[in-house]
Amino acid sequence: MAIIAPSLLSANFLQLNDACDMINHSEAEWLHLDVMDGRFVPNISFGIPVISAVRKANKKVCDVHLMIEEPEKFTQAFKDAGADVLTVHVEACNHLHRNIQHIKSLGMKAGVAINPHTPLEALKEIIGFADLICVMSVNPGFGGQQFINATLNKIERLKNLIIQKGAQTLIEVDGGVTIKNATDIVKAGADVLVAGNTVFNSNDPIATIKLLKSI
Ligand code: DX5
Ligand code: ZN
Repeated sequence: MAIIAPSLLSANFLQLNDACDMINHSEAEWLHLDVMDGRFVPNISFGIPVISAVRKANKKVCDVHLMIEEPEKFTQAFKDAGADVLTVHVEACNHLHRNIQHIKSLGMKAGVAINPHTPLEALKEIIGFADLICVMSVNPGFGGQQFINATLNKIERLKNLIIQKGAQTLIEVDGGVTIKNATDIVKAGADVLVAGNTVFNSNDPIATIKLLKSI
C-alpha cells in the first residue's frame, strides 16, 4: 500500500482551506506542495507565504517539492514555513550532499527529485543519504500531463539500487499518476504516489484517494 500525496497544484486556489479540509478527512497521509520559480521550470506556482498559510490548515505531512534553482538558499525558510519533507532537484544542486545534510540537520526529511532525462547514475552516490527519491514521470512545471511510460523501468532499476545499497530510501513518483496506471507504478516499486489532476479533478476526491490507497 503506497502513501498518497495529493498535489495542491491542481486545487482551486480560491478555496485552499476547503482543499486542506478535504485532504485532512481523506486517507492521504501527505500533502504535496509544488514550488516553481520560472527558471528551473517554465512556470511559477506559489512559495513560502502560501505554504505557511496552508500549514495552519493542513494536518498531514507537508511534502514540499522545490522546482527552483539554488534551493539551498531557502532551506531554513521552508523549514520555518512548515515543511516536513523537503525535496530538491539533482539537476539544480552543485553540492547535493551538503544540501541533504543541511535539510536533515534542520529536522526535515531530505528528498532528491530526478527529471525524466537524467540517468539514475546521477543519484548513485547519494541514494544512501536521501530519505526519498522523487522520480519525475513528467517534465516538471505543470499539472495534468501524461505519464511517461519509460518511467516504470526507471523505478524498477532505482528500487534495485536501493535494495543493493541496503538503504531505506522511499521512492516517490510524481506526474501523470492515474487510477489506471497506479497499480503498475506501485508494482514497479513506488512507495509514495503524488496525484494532482487525478484527485482534484475527480467528482469525488475523497473516494479517488481511497481508491489510490487501496492499490
Ligand atoms: C509537476 C509537479 C507535480 C504535479 C503533478 O511539475 O511536480 O507534482 O502537481 O500533477 P499531476 O498529478 O496532475 O500530473
Ligand atoms: Zn511535484
